[in-house]
Amino acid sequence: MKTYLITGGAGNVGGTLALHLAKDKSNIIIIVDNLSTGSLHKVPKLNNVHFIKSDVNLYNDIAPIFARYNFDYVFHYAALVGVKRTLENPMRVLNDIEGIKNSDVIFAVLDNLDSGTLVESGLSMAYDKKIIGYHRTCDENHLLMLKPGNFTTNSNLTTALYQTIWSL
Ligand SMILES: NC(=O)c1ccc[n+]([C@@H]2O[C@H](COP(=O)([O-])OP(=O)(O)OC[C@H]3O[C@@H](n4cnc5c(N)ncnc54)[C@H](O)[C@@H]3O)[C@@H](O)[C@H]2O)c1
Repeated sequence: MKTYLITGGAGNVGGTLALHLAKDKSNIIIIVDNLSTGSLHKVPKLNNVHFIKSDVNLYNDIAPIFARYNFDYVFHYAALVGVKRTLENPMRVLNDIEGIKNSDVIFAVLDNLDSGTLVESGLSMAYDKKIIGYHRTCDENHLLMLKPGNFTTNSNLTTALYQTIWSL
């Protein structure tokens, strides 16, 4: 049995990841999201998935959750996402990317190479983090920027996820 924390699990990446991990009934998935832009509709309605409304950037919100659960793995996907939102709230974005500094491994969804992904991947390289990239549509040229980093890539979602988990 493994216990996972997924932050931002009421969003696109976190919600999809939760659904994927929850297929193994022995996994317990705790989703933390402040619902600032996410939706409860994206949280899988399954017995092994539990939702907690909380802000990951507030120590007093997140510390009791770590004290209560003995997490085996943490996937950190809570963030303010989108060019318009980030231009309107630059300070909130700076708070969000602090999370990269505290991460051991970065799991990057690289399809479409949106600007946020490139910034987060570049920052991860600058911090010398190990990056596992998942994609189905990128070619060699798209990924050149990440080549000098501690970077591996996979086009199978399950393999990429487990590569990330086993890197910890
Ligand atoms: N969607 C993609 O293809 C993609 C690709 C690569 C990387 N990413 C990155 O993955 C992360 C998530 O992307 P997404 O597309 O799932 O975004 P999203 O907006 O769908 O989900 C983000 C979630 O985080 C929550 N959230 C925001 N701030 C929070 C806070 N302080 N505390 C708790 N919850 C908070 C929101 O309510 C939302 O549910 C982002 O860092 C994004 O840049 C996304």
